[in-house]
Amino acid sequence: MKRRQFIKSTGLSTLTALFGSSFWLNACHTEEDMIGEPNWIVEGGFDRPLPIPPQATNNVKLTAKTISDEMISGKLTSLLSYRDGLMGPTITVSSGSNVNVLLDNNLLENTNIHWHGLIVPAEMEGHPKDYASTGNALQYVLPINQRAGTYWYHPHVHGSTARQVFMGLAGMFIVSDPEEAALQLPSGQFDIPLIIQDKRFDGPSLDYSPTEDEIMTGYLGEQILVNGVYSPYVAVANTWYRLRLLNGSTARVYNLAMTNNIPFHIIGSDGGLLQASEHEMSLMLGPGERADVLVDFSSLPHGTEVFLTSGKFSKYELQGRQSFSILKFKVELNSTSTFSPPSILSSIQRISEASAIRTRTFDIAGMVGSEGHEGMDRHAINSKTYSEVRIDETVEAGTTEIWEFDNSTGDEIHPMHIHGVQFQVLHRSGGRNALIATERGWKDTVLVMPGEHVRIIMTFPQYKGLFVLHCHNLEHEDDGMMLNYEIV
Ligand code: C2O
Ligand code: CU
Ligand code: CU
Repeated sequence: MKRRQFIKSTGLSTLTALFGSSFWLNACHTEEDMIGEPNWIVEGGFDRPLPIPPQATNNVKLTAKTISDEMISGKLTSLLSYRDGLMGPTITVSSGSNVNVLLDNNLLENTNIHWHGLIVPAEMEGHPKDYASTGNALQYVLPINQRAGTYWYHPHVHGSTARQVFMGLAGMFIVSDPEEAALQLPSGQFDIPLIIQDKRFDGPSLDYSPTEDEIMTGYLGEQILVNGVYSPYVAVANTWYRLRLLNGSTARVYNLAMTNNIPFHIIGSDGGLLQASEHEMSLMLGPGERADVLVDFSSLPHGTEVFLTSGKFSKYELQGRQSFSILKFKVELNSTSTFSPPSILSSIQRISEASAIRTRTFDIAGMVGSEGHEGMDRHAINSKTYSEVRIDETVEAGTTEIWEFDNSTGDEIHPMHIHGVQFQVLHRSGGRNALIATERGWKDTVLVMPGEHVRIIMTFPQYKGLFVLHCHNLEHEDDGMMLNYEIV
């Protein structure tokens, strides 16, 4: 980061005005912590029932528009949505089927939809160059031929992605298949989609107004929403649940954990099931990443309250310095289920490093100076900022390559995402120096912390055409931290 020093006290008075001075008693642990922390998370009362977005299946119509809904209890907020309600519908389909989605653009700006994690033809996948202007529509035809898993969708117009996602445009896309169905994992009300996002409000209004400094750190909101509402709870039964965790925030990383000593049985990553579940007490989830976990409430007495929380992690600029709760589970229903988690979930064939025909390295630590951006340095990959008319990398369909994301000299967090492919993570050196449980499965987004160097391997699918790779810190992405690559 080389833009400017942070203005250490930004926002302090604003927050005091918004939440009153008692806010500081609750949120600030020490005065020292307060300095340089313009945006401590403000926890609410966890007294709103968690909404579950409606499901949609193979023929879907999404209308991007402005609506009003109750993101914060008792207040109407104007936001963007794909329907009359918070968060887009959960598109739920089985592998092997085709999905038709008509996107109607009733916004006053261009928009489109990218199907994050889906392997679909280049002209259907929501490349930034393909969008609908105001009053126009786009028809997506998506052949779904991939592993069961938790994918998602969101806008991808260059320069507007972060704001449109922040303002509410996003939804989950769940693929099922016979292999997964055979496992009889918790389903129906026991399978809960959780879209976790931080937001900043100005009174009842969403406030998306990143400063130059916030383009560096990412825009971090003070209030954590799940499925579009602030500080919710969910009533659960004393049994096993499947939680589909999606970090749909523009920049915030969560170090997720459960209270009451409940471990996560991690069963899936971005690209579907792991080989076997892995038990962890915590799980890092960067913007764009997903994790499928099983949690066991079966031994908890009625009335028990359990929280999904985010713990501290090594301080990187403004992130990781605070622990906070995200969602409350209240054990108050009865279950007669006798579920016990399967030991083997799936098989994942490792791509052999010897099959790679090429290694490409991407420097994600450097910034570049720019003309016309008020003299500020901009986020770059290999010293280039995004250009719609430049093809940065060309790869061949069906071939295998190793890509390396090098943040070893960097001091910012970069969740790196590649469109059009699912990859495997080979190695991480520097920083955390190890892979985490979800990184032993298929991935489309990998968190590259400051000081880290991450190697991945992938075989490019047969869909030829233009795709992008980018940082999924959406402020970085809109700032230009994205390249085009073509599959030929
Ligand atoms: Cu979820 Cu190109 O992004
Ligand atoms: Cu994507
Ligand atoms: Cu980044």
